Amino acid sequence: MSILEDVDGALLDYPAAKAPGCPFDPPAGVRELQQQGPLVRVRLWDGSTPWLVTRYADQRALLGDARVSADPDSPGYPLQTAGTPSRQQGLSFIRLDDPEHARQRRMVTAPFAIKRIEAMRPGVQEIVDGLIDDLLAGPRPVDLVDAFALPVPSLVICRLLGVPYEDHDFFQANSKVLIRMSVSEDERAAARRRLADYLDDLVGRKLAEPDDGVLSLLAERIGTGELTRDAVAQMAVLLLVAGHETTANMIALGTFALLQHPEELARLRAAEDPREVAGAVEELLRYLTIVHTGRRRAVLEDIELAGQTIRAGEGLIFPNDIGNRDPEAFPDPDRLDLGRAARHHVAFGFGVHQCLGQPLARMELQVVYGTLYRRIPSLRLAVDAAEVPLKHDGFVYGAYCLPVTW
Ligand code: HEM
Repeated sequence: MSILEDVDGALLDYPAAKAPGCPFDPPAGVRELQQQGPLVRVRLWDGSTPWLVTRYADQRALLGDARVSADPDSPGYPLQTAGTPSRQQGLSFIRLDDPEHARQRRMVTAPFAIKRIEAMRPGVQEIVDGLIDDLLAGPRPVDLVDAFALPVPSLVICRLLGVPYEDHDFFQANSKVLIRMSVSEDERAAARRRLADYLDDLVGRKLAEPDDGVLSLLAERIGTGELTRDAVAQMAVLLLVAGHETTANMIALGTFALLQHPEELARLRAAEDPREVAGAVEELLRYLTIVHTGRRRAVLEDIELAGQTIRAGEGLIFPNDIGNRDPEAFPDPDRLDLGRAARHHVAFGFGVHQCLGQPLARMELQVVYGTLYRRIPSLRLAVDAAEVPLKHDGFVYGAYCLPVTW
């Protein structure tokens, strides 16, 4: 009997559920593993037993290590579900290793560079102000997800990519399926296909009539032979889905968390220096860590960590939610403290796959958090906190809806 079989009964099933009543905290069982040691085996849905890298410093070291692979076709890769797309099936460069990952990512770095994103700030402020005007003129209570949290990033990413916002019902409905763990594999594959077909069609139109959006930029690469049309469609799916679902959840869940921490909310509302708002965004990103089911990697060559050898062909999971609650990196980590220096969090991942859209997400959240609670100072939940339906079954955590009034 192997050591593994021996301890098998004691392994935690991963991902684990958050405890009822603690909607903002990582699952207690996973937190406990951090105290057990830097590397702990867990059990996945398919019976495989990859390592969980529990500590912040090790997560950064290994996510930055070229001996780990993000390619689901690498032996030992810890699959999220049976339907995790293989390299052939797409999901673009987020699932590729360098040098191909870097080659493709480079083609879209310019539009997400800080300077370009900053130039979009006045337009984003206008979008946010316009949606708040509509909220104030509309009925109460209202679902903040539907009326505000989802439209802000959807409008922004549509503008950046050159996707018609009129199609938002279609792409939001399909994106939702992609990031939900509890749907069937067939449903998820079908949603991915529908989005890819839709974006492929749009790319075809950009080839004929280019504009200044990112899709047109990518369409040009088809002409030069640098990307296949299919690779462009996959990349477009990645950018469209990642571009609105994550930020939307941060807006709604961040608001929920602030409403549960009135002193911190008052502090944010009173902030006069934009750097204080920017700091609050970082702390909420750390505290909430909405991309919460662990970054996944496979080991390509043996790696030594803390006196242990991680073997080539073994799987690694990096639960960035507990990395962001590691007391070694963030003193008193369970306290939401908008004044703390939190920018070194791993909510955007780390290493070569660190979030491409982070300048955009940061700017959108700074505008939202810096505006919403000032313009609607009496904003409050319209239901009991316990009744807010949360995305426990989502690859991205958040609130399905957030009924608010003022
Ligand atoms: C608060 C909002 C966001 C959060 C928390 C977030 C989180 C993350 C995380 C954790 C990763 C790393 C994935 C991994 O290592 O496997 C990632 C990658 C990525 N994100 Fe974001 N993201 C956000 C917003 C955005 C936005 C607005 C975009 C815009 C298109 C975007 C595009 C991407 C892309 C393209 C990647 C893949 C990068 C690569 O593989 O090189 N994200 N994001």
